Amino acid sequence: MSKKRILSGMRPTGKLHIGHYVGALENWIKLQNDYESYHLIADYHVLTTNLDTSEIYNNSIEMVIDWIAAGLDPAKSLIFRQSQIKEHAELYLIFSMLVTTARLERNPTLKEQVRDLNIENMIYGHLGYTVLQSADILLYKGQAVPVGEDQVPHVEITREIARKFNNQYGLVFQEPEPLLTNFSRLQGLDGDAKMSKSLNNTILLSDEPEEVKQKLRKAVTDPLKVRRNDPGRPEVCLVFTYHKKFNHENVSEIESGCKSGELGCVDCKMKCVEKINMFLEPIIYKRKQMENDIDAVKNIIADGENKAKIVAASTMDEVHKVMSLG
Ligand code: TRP
Repeated sequence: MSKKRILSGMRPTGKLHIGHYVGALENWIKLQNDYESYHLIADYHVLTTNLDTSEIYNNSIEMVIDWIAAGLDPAKSLIFRQSQIKEHAELYLIFSMLVTTARLERNPTLKEQVRDLNIENMIYGHLGYTVLQSADILLYKGQAVPVGEDQVPHVEITREIARKFNNQYGLVFQEPEPLLTNFSRLQGLDGDAKMSKSLNNTILLSDEPEEVKQKLRKAVTDPLKVRRNDPGRPEVCLVFTYHKKFNHENVSEIESGCKSGELGCVDCKMKCVEKINMFLEPIIYKRKQMENDIDAVKNIIADGENKAKIVAASTMDEVHKVMSLG
């Protein structure tokens, strides 16, 4: 039986942080063995929040280096830029006729993104970016979409658009399923629910051991654990969430040490630093190798684009045919 196809993407905002890894990349790396994998660099999506395009290509390369350094294998996973395959724009236009603006305004992920923004100030392309995402997925007939929880509403809209298209013009698209990442969100170093570059609360996949140490040192912990021997509450501590992810085998020991007061925050943090650095070491090693051969990275992307173009053109042929536009 042929493998099912997955499609997922990320915005190229530069080097990735461990939140990207936990929320998406880790899952992609696991799934590439069982699925035919398409991974898109969502460069047009960046424009919804930043019109300056001068760094997009560089940022895309940095992101792809992190993807590969962490374990995404270009021999198994197709890697390509959204902007280089014109069919994204075309399918996006067609799909934009198949969904109401009210439906897009109800999207909870969009609401969260623009929480500080008055709807009056929202650009048209931002309101419609989910439609572009639907085109990303359906252009390659992605059957499953490995994403974090925040992207599930987008997959739902994609399903609705696929249904609407099929009913209106004829069966071309299958409705894709979200494939949820179990551990979808990593808190930021400041305790914010989200690790994010704009909040400056990240640990990068490329951070050197000393940097990780400095960053963790400043991370917030249980505010009621003031002195070393005070009993702490792991359930409210950010560092404990990192232990759960990166020091899984010792979680119960950390938990009891914290609760009894035997384990002070500084020691606890240093144990965490050690584990995170162990995790990052091979990634940093691989990154350095790739940094010495950026052309090889560019070639991987160009190769992915050549292959993606063929699939995209074939889907658009079908679309044109059922729409009698061919
Ligand atoms: N919208 C996603 C994000 O902001 C990125 C993305 C673009 C994507 N196209 C996609 C994710 C297609 C999954 C499938 O992170």
